[in-house]
Amino acid sequence: MSNYHIKHLEEYFQVYRKSVREPENFWEEVAEEHFLWRKKWDKVLSWDFSKPEVTWFEGAKLNITENCLDRHLATRGDKTAILFEPNNPDEPAEYITYRDLYERVNQFANVLKDKGVTKGDRVCIYVPMIPELAIALLACARIGAIHSVVFAGFSSKALSTRINDCDCKVVITADGSYRGAKTIDLKGIVDEALEDCPDVETVLVAKRIHSDINMKEGRDEWLQPLLDKASKEGKAEVMDAEDPLFILYTSGSTGKPKGMVHTTAGYMVYTAYTFKNVFQYREHDVYWCTADIGWITGHSYIVYGPLANGATTVMFEGVPSYPDFGRFWEIVQKHKVNQFYTAPTAIRALAKQGAELVEKYDLSSLKVLGSVGEPINEEAWHWYNDVVGKNKSPIVDTWWQTETGGIMITPIPFVTPTKPTFATLPFIGIQPALMDESGTELKGNQVEGRLCIKYPWPSMARTIWGNHERYRDTYFSAYENKYFTGDGALRDEVGYYRITGRVDDVIIVSGHNLGTAPIEDAINEHQAVAESAIVGFPHDVKGSALYGYVTLKDFGEARNQDNLRKEINQLISDRIGPIAKLDKIQFTEGLPKTRSGKIMRRILRKIAENNTSDLGDISTLLNPEVVQSIIDNKL
Ligand code: WTA
Repeated sequence: MSNYHIKHLEEYFQVYRKSVREPENFWEEVAEEHFLWRKKWDKVLSWDFSKPEVTWFEGAKLNITENCLDRHLATRGDKTAILFEPNNPDEPAEYITYRDLYERVNQFANVLKDKGVTKGDRVCIYVPMIPELAIALLACARIGAIHSVVFAGFSSKALSTRINDCDCKVVITADGSYRGAKTIDLKGIVDEALEDCPDVETVLVAKRIHSDINMKEGRDEWLQPLLDKASKEGKAEVMDAEDPLFILYTSGSTGKPKGMVHTTAGYMVYTAYTFKNVFQYREHDVYWCTADIGWITGHSYIVYGPLANGATTVMFEGVPSYPDFGRFWEIVQKHKVNQFYTAPTAIRALAKQGAELVEKYDLSSLKVLGSVGEPINEEAWHWYNDVVGKNKSPIVDTWWQTETGGIMITPIPFVTPTKPTFATLPFIGIQPALMDESGTELKGNQVEGRLCIKYPWPSMARTIWGNHERYRDTYFSAYENKYFTGDGALRDEVGYYRITGRVDDVIIVSGHNLGTAPIEDAINEHQAVAESAIVGFPHDVKGSALYGYVTLKDFGEARNQDNLRKEINQLISDRIGPIAKLDKIQFTEGLPKTRSGKIMRRILRKIAENNTSDLGDISTLLNPEVVQSIIDNKL
């Protein structure tokens, strides 16, 4: 009896019911039949959301890389595990087999060990989308080190904050990276970051762009010569089910980024099981997720989920627009991609370029199309479905989060009928709840509320690194005995879910979650700035773009406003990264505030959205008069 691969709608309902009625039996069966354990668990699940404390497969021993690599060697040794497609289309693709990958991971693991990295140590990985990135993750997991990947588009400041937060002694990076026609000086960014990270002892540098970089004596070393000398064999460290596998930072609505901690066994079981079903992966398929491994989507659905299933997973170094906007489709044709998983912001950018660039290529290999990262709007959904999918490849609109580790609400292709803009039904084992603001669960269909999850699932984050209290406050205090997602959602007449967007101060720009507070902090560092507030406004490619209202210390100051705008954006770029730059910056005399001094972002949001007909009652504000002047001077 196996519930591992769901193929019909009735089967979905039947398995779903079982997963909810007898969750422990259900997950035990999945875990037992499809993974390699050094020792089985003593207990499937213990949980208490009030603390919160959740453990899955307690007492079990395993190594996730034995599940992703070793066990495939006998049957899939010559199968391509990672198919690397370089930025430059003229550079040949690289086909890394399961055997190659196994050997390269061991070599890398041996280098790390040589550098003194041991079980439980944190290793920061700041590497572009080249094979060394995936290999670095697996090498850490092989020896029980906890990887903390920082997206290689983040600034030096963002990098140093993350290195220090979890106390990494080793950083893995590259000389530089290719991004379309541009190159990025990654090592320069690392050098700058490390000025604030006195505890980093070792920096391992992969060579990619062959640029002339600075190597600090005693700290920095080229990676390749070390790998060449290292053994291709190596024992995997035996890990406990609940040992941390990785930390991945995500923006919060306030303060510093949250280092979400994911543990080993539950994460493995859930990402593998969702991968198999959500993409209906079959043995000879070629699967491609366009995300960067710097985000959770890349961790779970480029690396761990696919490899645990012995899949062929494409890793693309470049961008959708280089050398032109047909690149994605060229790659689909070239590698006969069967499952294609991308973000709404990419779909919108490509749709803008017209259908001709898609029609030039043979996309007949495609079977399943995926979307993730933000709500997909109706127009983009139809374009994806009709122009790319030719109405025959179902779209899986997958809702999930860094915190959830794996896909939570999604259609299962060829099983769940799709509906534009709807993530449809909860995945197996997931029990969503919609709550009203007073904390009552909204039962039945045709309701809209705040999305919570009321029962643990195997891949949920266990804590925030170094700050369990913040973990509890952020996710488990809004509603008793429930995990609060920060998203709003509605349930339609048949029980399908549609995610309506964030209900907190996180704005999703081109699929990147940006907390407003850190951006405001960056702006406020400018010596001319008194105060600022950031809101999102609709943008036809990015989904949302950022609108900043900035008050200056001396409003009448005769400064060139355009220069000021540039300086502010430069500050944001330095502190957070170019992705957080503001599209519009309006200088104002004041910001609307409540009498208790809280900035009324709701009003600012409406103004930015050009929706000023219903601002609500503003008479209770501390300074109602500023509202009209902000409207009059809107950009
Ligand atoms: C949003 C990405 C609507 C949501 C895996 C969530 C979505 C946040 C969808 C998490 C979707 C992600 N439909 N909204 N299919 N997928 N989101 O942590 O607001 O980068 O809370 O994880 O993205 O973003 P994160």
